[in-house]
Amino acid sequence: MKLQNKVAFVTGAGQGMGLAIVRSFVAEGARVVAADIDLQTLQQAVAEFGDKVLAVACNVADSASVTAAVGEAERVFGGLHIVVNNAGVGSLDSFLETPDESWQRVIGVNLTGTFFGAREGARLILKTGECGCIINMSSTSALNGEGPNHYCASKAGVMGLTRGIARELAAQGIRVNTLVPGPTNTQMLASIPDEMVAELLKAVPLGRLCEADEIARVAVFLASDGASFITGQNIAVNGGMSFI
Ligand SMILES: NC(=O)c1ccc[n+]([C@@H]2O[C@H](COP(=O)([O-])OP(=O)(O)OC[C@H]3O[C@@H](n4cnc5c(N)ncnc54)[C@H](O)[C@@H]3O)[C@@H](O)[C@H]2O)c1
Repeated sequence: MKLQNKVAFVTGAGQGMGLAIVRSFVAEGARVVAADIDLQTLQQAVAEFGDKVLAVACNVADSASVTAAVGEAERVFGGLHIVVNNAGVGSLDSFLETPDESWQRVIGVNLTGTFFGAREGARLILKTGECGCIINMSSTSALNGEGPNHYCASKAGVMGLTRGIARELAAQGIRVNTLVPGPTNTQMLASIPDEMVAELLKAVPLGRLCEADEIARVAVFLASDGASFITGQNIAVNGGMSFI
């Protein structure tokens, strides 16, 4: 049990990587506040975990919504140790045809949402008074530009945000790292045309999509004492698609 007695806050927890992370965290002994903008799907998804997981509605792009959702960790589980800023959205806009609203939405959820989750989470971790960690979800798109402009920009921003706050929070016992997945077998990828996925796959030396569980296993490691001297890093899980 690598996460015994730990409390985690995971965003975008209703499906895909977020749900796989919740499942792995619970298996390792953690209790989890699972947050998603789609409460109905989330509640159905986490029902199997009983009182080890609290499902909360949360729009990560809304500061007050994130503050309220993080606060549930203290109210229900007595504090917080781990934050996973996983919620994210994509888009198929070409650069020249990107509407302002689409830019604001992708940056708002992927980058500003990560900032809100990290800030509110860090405040509660410090109040809880034990060591903690934050995991921010980026993408190989931030490294190789394989993705729409706003998505690439948001995920590169997550890397910079991680490095900045990792330095600032280190002295207070909070580690902050970026998890950098390659193409992964989730609903997000299912929304991309098959021929685009086939092109992406050609660039993966291991020759297949990543599974959400393979991301979750790395999240468990980063959240555990096994990663006690790792902070500010990009941890890529991409089958060799690009190197950091
Ligand atoms: N699937 C991939 O190939 C891939 C690759 C690299 C990085 N990523 C990143 O990994 C993360 C998880 O991706 P996934 O494939 O599991 O995605 P997914 O689309 O399967 O799940 C995303 C979840 O986030 C939730 N969400 C969306 N907007 C939200 C908001 N404003 N507030 C709260 N929750 C919100 C959705 O309801 C959904 O449950 C994302 O940040 C994504 O950008 C995905």
